[in-house]
Amino acid sequence: MLKIANIVGARPNFMKIAPIHRRMQASETFAPLLVHTGQHYDKKMSQTFFVELGMPEPDMYLGVGSGSHAVQTASVMIAMEKILLDEKPNWILVVGDVNSTLAASLAAAKLHIPIAHVEAGLRSFDRAMPEEINRVLTDSISDLLFVTEQSGLENLKKEGIPDDKVRFVGNVMIDSLVEHLQKAKESQILQELEIMPKRYTLMTLHRPSNVDDKNNLENILTTLEVIEKELPIIFPIHPRTKKRIDEFGLAKKVANMKNLRLVEPLGYLPFLHLMSESKLLLTDSGGIQEETTYLRVPCLTLRKNTERPVTAEIGTNRLVGMDRKAILKGFEDAMNGYFKDSKIPPLWDGHASERILETLAKQ
Ligand code: UD1
Repeated sequence: MLKIANIVGARPNFMKIAPIHRRMQASETFAPLLVHTGQHYDKKMSQTFFVELGMPEPDMYLGVGSGSHAVQTASVMIAMEKILLDEKPNWILVVGDVNSTLAASLAAAKLHIPIAHVEAGLRSFDRAMPEEINRVLTDSISDLLFVTEQSGLENLKKEGIPDDKVRFVGNVMIDSLVEHLQKAKESQILQELEIMPKRYTLMTLHRPSNVDDKNNLENILTTLEVIEKELPIIFPIHPRTKKRIDEFGLAKKVANMKNLRLVEPLGYLPFLHLMSESKLLLTDSGGIQEETTYLRVPCLTLRKNTERPVTAEIGTNRLVGMDRKAILKGFEDAMNGYFKDSKIPPLWDGHASERILETLAKQ
């Protein structure tokens, strides 16, 4: 049996690990351990997802919580090293690009435990993003790199990662989406919010570059003043963003927009349902660019770059940055049904986790 420590830490990790961990549990080849670093700890940022995705309680919970980048990364490393020494897994498997991804990988590499990185090779080429540092460093010490899109293969080749470590397997986040889409339709979230399908915009915002800078945050809010007059905006608010709105004295500006509707962070199923019925997404999230591409819902990404270029090349994603004109043009195009034709990227078919298990089983 291959003992694999599957690592999760923050919200976008849960839906990526869920299909992998479940398949490993059902297989006779694998003995998976589920390790939660505790980077995200609020019920609405963590536990809700475990329940909705049918994941078991973590076998180990490190409880590291929030902190500066160094504190958070170091705390995960210290706690992870102990677990790896006690459990001696054959592999650790990490997903995505959060601080827990890099910290767990560093702890494993120093103990000569091989690392499988799922969602490898994505690059924004923007080193000011903490996630970009996490991606580059995690990939550089990984032993198996599972890639979601063509750009990942090219980036890893340029960085000198040998081809035999790299596999193009598709997208595990889409595995979860495909599996849960039907169930998500049972959600009553539209009724609860008293909104109609295709008659609202859905927005998420949490990138430090957008929300930790008062000017940027204020500018985005000013642009929303135009949009909310035409279409209600549902805004499940990330704890980081909520804090900043209060700190920067922007709460009144927000409250004055009657159609900008702030709600608590939503669970996976209600959010998936809201996304699939939305006229348009406004977001700075990475995962949502992929999910809307699969769902063929127009998405305006409030960033200058994306590490997921396939979503903009053939999917429904359009990069608009912080540019007021570009955001409003994108909004008008979506309202008029004038958004580009789109395709679903290769191997985003709901079977990526099977390919990952097949590869690991051969190691
Ligand atoms: C992290 C990831 C980011 C990912 C995002 C998804 C890193 C560097 N960033 O950013 O890539 O897109 O998760 O949400 O790993 N907080 C709570 N409750 C929680 C967790 C956080 O209130 O359960 C608050 C705390 O004030 C904390 C802040 O949110 O200081 C930021 O949390 P942190 O985990 O540091 O980064 P995120 O912004 O969530």
